[in-house]
Amino acid sequence: MTSFTYLFATRFVWTGLIGLLSTTHGFAADTSPDALLTQYQQAVAQKADRVRGQKFFTSTHANELSCASCHGNPPVTPGKHASTGKTIAPLAPLVHAERFTDSAKVEKWFRRNCKDVLSRECTALEKADVLFYLKDLK
Ligand code: HEC
Repeated sequence: MTSFTYLFATRFVWTGLIGLLSTTHGFAADTSPDALLTQYQQAVAQKADRVRGQKFFTSTHANELSCASCHGNPPVTPGKHASTGKTIAPLAPLVHAERFTDSAKVEKWFRRNCKDVLSRECTALEKADVLFYLKDLK
């Protein structure tokens, strides 16, 4: 086998394995809390603020729901969905390692939950603040 074919084959096997692993776990780890935080901060060219993030997370905005209504305060133990009562795994990434590792999942839920709580999408700065607050909780 030429080294090119070998490289190609190895890569093929790895891609397949990684794909298989992420499907069986139901998530595709493509990012990390730190990488996302950097990305959000760069998008607005501002530094995140942990205290502002905590206030944002625990306050109500457009209606009677806050992020903490479903995720708990602080979100280091399982939360309970405010309307369905379903258990939600802890949101703090140091407690639940899958959190903030799948960018598609993170964006999907930020979009949905921000609309529920603020009646609009969250800004990149709001996401950065919340993530900065959540990142070191344990
Ligand atoms: C009505 C209940 C509810 C409210 C209110 C809520 N969430 Fe969620 N959130 C969920 C559910 C359900 C999921 C998806 C299930 C899961 O991931 O455990 C989720 C998942 C997430 C995720 C995905 C994280 C990951 O990587 O797995 C983020 C980020 C998130 N919520 C942030 C927020 C923020 C910020 C707020 C406040 C603006 C908020 N949520 C308010 C119910 C809620």
